[in-house]
Amino acid sequence: MSAPQPDENAATSLLIANIGELFTADPETGIMNDAAIVTEGDRIAWIGLNAEAPQADARLDAGGRAVIPGFVDSHSHLVFAGDRHAEFAARMSGEPYTGGGIRTTVAATRMASDERLRATAARLTAEMLRQGTTTVEIKSGYGLTVADESRSLRIAGEFTAETTYLGAHTVPAGADPDEYTALACGPMLEACAPHAKWADVFCERGAFDGDQARAVLTASAKAGLGLRVHANQLTAGPGVRLAVELGAASADHCTHLTYADVDALANGDTVATLLPGAEFSTRSPYPDARRLIDAGATVALATDCNPGSSFTSSMAFCIALAVREMHMTPAEALTAATAGGAQALRRADIGRLVVGARADLAVLDAPSHVHLAYRPGTPLIETVVHDGTATR
Ligand code: NIG
Ligand code: FE
Repeated sequence: MSAPQPDENAATSLLIANIGELFTADPETGIMNDAAIVTEGDRIAWIGLNAEAPQADARLDAGGRAVIPGFVDSHSHLVFAGDRHAEFAARMSGEPYTGGGIRTTVAATRMASDERLRATAARLTAEMLRQGTTTVEIKSGYGLTVADESRSLRIAGEFTAETTYLGAHTVPAGADPDEYTALACGPMLEACAPHAKWADVFCERGAFDGDQARAVLTASAKAGLGLRVHANQLTAGPGVRLAVELGAASADHCTHLTYADVDALANGDTVATLLPGAEFSTRSPYPDARRLIDAGATVALATDCNPGSSFTSSMAFCIALAVREMHMTPAEALTAATAGGAQALRRADIGRLVVGARADLAVLDAPSHVHLAYRPGTPLIETVVHDGTATR
């Protein structure tokens, strides 16, 4: 996930042979059995039956196991310092989650050196890669000053091209909400836009209301950023409809949805990104993915990895939760964690195993993708191929 490094193997080809079940996440191809893949450099060059596979410079024997696309984790907050385990423990004893703890992480993040923030992001992205995540989006949002937000984004950009400006994460302690919104639409955005691909806003009671969120999103779009929204996490507010109206790539959380919200998602181009790690960690009701899928919305799954509401880096855990608690089939959940995440990032080159796509995939230590939900908590990622290079 880090910026591409010069790689002496980059132009070599790799045959991944003996794939028992190939889960392509591509609606046309679906699942293939007894398959093989050839990668050329950082792209997929050939997919077909194992018996018909051409030769390549190197060979990886999948031994009849399942192969899936690398996970696309389209929502994370990895630039932070400190942790909030005491807050988690209190929640498990009945305290509610209000988002107020964001300020605890803001205080720790402002105090931390660049090196410390970089080390945490490096540890977490490495942890993600080992668990099969080959693309991650990373937000700012724990700085909340012009200098701290722009340095968060510079550090995020060392690990991914999918960087998101979240200056409007919460109103800092002591600040006036409208003045802070003006800062987030003005000088802060100006300093951050060169380092960000996306802009996001926490549209929620106690954070930014519909008008404030609209102002930040509209200014960000003018600055050339794509849009995403933290929407309807704690209450059924205006976030989802605003996201769809403004053509955001994704409305994230979608925990509390009205019929009008579901209709808007079903009829718009905005992906509903569900974050079951947050419901798990905040003891909130899970959103009903079935309702969204049956209405015709596109669903993505992501970790929301952050030290407050969801401190997991595991997409497999999110898949298991989505299957058990959100009424998704294992195939739907895996598609949401790969192709769905790619759509939430408006990327056509990742999330599906098709010829021409990036050579990002994982070999499972299992015969079927179903094991991701069937064997929760078990490390099933045997080998990860990222940019055509295999790591075990
Ligand atoms: O996506 N809800 C807003 N932001 C994060 C939580 C941040 C925190 O609690 O530190 C989220 O859940
Ligand atoms: Fe989040």
